[in-house]
Amino acid sequence: MKFHHAKRLKGEITVPGDKSISHRAVMFGALSEGKTEVSNFLQGADCLSTIDCFRRLGIEIACRDHTITICGKGLDGLSAPSRILDAGNSGTTTRLISGILSAQPFTTTLTGDASIQKRPMKRIIEPLSMMGANIESLSGNGCAPLRIKGAPLHGIHYRSKVASAQVKSAILLAGLYAEGETAVTEPVLSRNHSELMLRAFGADIRSEGATAVISPRPRLTGQKIRVPGDISSAAYFIAAGLLVPGSDILIRNVGINPTRDGILKAARAMGGRIFLLNENYEGEPTADLHVTYSPLHGTVIEGGMIPTLIDELPIIAVMAAAASGTTIIRDAAELKVKESNRIDVMVRNLSAMGCSITGTEDGMVIEGNGSSELPFKGTVIDSFADHRIAMSFAIASLLADGETEIKGGECVSISYPGFYADLESLVEAE
Ligand code: S3P
Repeated sequence: MKFHHAKRLKGEITVPGDKSISHRAVMFGALSEGKTEVSNFLQGADCLSTIDCFRRLGIEIACRDHTITICGKGLDGLSAPSRILDAGNSGTTTRLISGILSAQPFTTTLTGDASIQKRPMKRIIEPLSMMGANIESLSGNGCAPLRIKGAPLHGIHYRSKVASAQVKSAILLAGLYAEGETAVTEPVLSRNHSELMLRAFGADIRSEGATAVISPRPRLTGQKIRVPGDISSAAYFIAAGLLVPGSDILIRNVGINPTRDGILKAARAMGGRIFLLNENYEGEPTADLHVTYSPLHGTVIEGGMIPTLIDELPIIAVMAAAASGTTIIRDAAELKVKESNRIDVMVRNLSAMGCSITGTEDGMVIEGNGSSELPFKGTVIDSFADHRIAMSFAIASLLADGETEIKGGECVSISYPGFYADLESLVEAE
């Protein structure tokens, strides 16, 4: 795929539904009694993998455009799949469903694509095993494929070393079936969509700071859920609007949950002008984002902020490379175990575009090219089949001198199938 620099971005868009929330709506709907109707559901490949897994577990799910209906059968309504479950590229599907499968009266084998088969699963195998689960990494390397033999579980209080909503949610979902309460304490609070949505479905779950506690065997009942726009998808347009001179855009109905809004804080700390309009609350807080061109400067991104913008760090690195001054990102070693090693891949690709970037053990240091009108050099970029890398470099190309080619750019379908069309609708070409 080939891209050229833009004159400016103008107009308004609505980004698709939130990926994390869409996954959870399918899973919790399946475990509830009665119908769950989910509107603005993200029809991205990752969420379709979750639907596929639950259909194989005997749950009826109907899809009509962006609305899906799940016929939940309650906590004990899943049935043994006739073959291996395939989570595709989705870490959220793999880790969350493992918590549920650990308690079922049958054995399941769960796998995914080449990237999933390299991602660490020990982080869920360990706590789920402490609860009594029987999970084996079939290749013996702590990764998928996983064979999960359901077993009676008991509650634990797990103190996680990583702030990970996937780990937390896997344990809380297992906690639905455990004997006694289950608690998870994180080093820093990660996204809390599971806690909010499980409560809405009727679970007895409470949060105190970075600890969530769930009681077993609630009666979950089907809900109507409207999924807010994904702030992680909006992030690419936030960056484009701030970076391309003369831009003025409106991004409608974006989820602004405080455990996810680090991109807004980081962008503002860099001098970005982003205004929230029409703030609303429907299970999750939302707003329209008005973004205008702003000269950006470097900043430091670290500590408790990291989990609130973990998926946005590739596009933040692009913003930093086009800003003036130095940006330091630290405490983000988790970047190495995402869909690709996002530290290595950002260093490689931003360097290829002529930027000064150094990878560190837990982040990157970027010297911005802000004084230049076109801070990037057009070149060939490898997305490494990582959707967030492809979208980050499509935005960088808007500020590149010459043509940018993105290899494997179609991987955006994982989280944002209409990304290139939406980008094109905003861009005014030179
Ligand atoms: C997600 C949690 C985060 C995030 C991922 C989605 C979720 O992963 O990076 O894209 O839906 O719970 P970790 O829990 O591994 O940090």
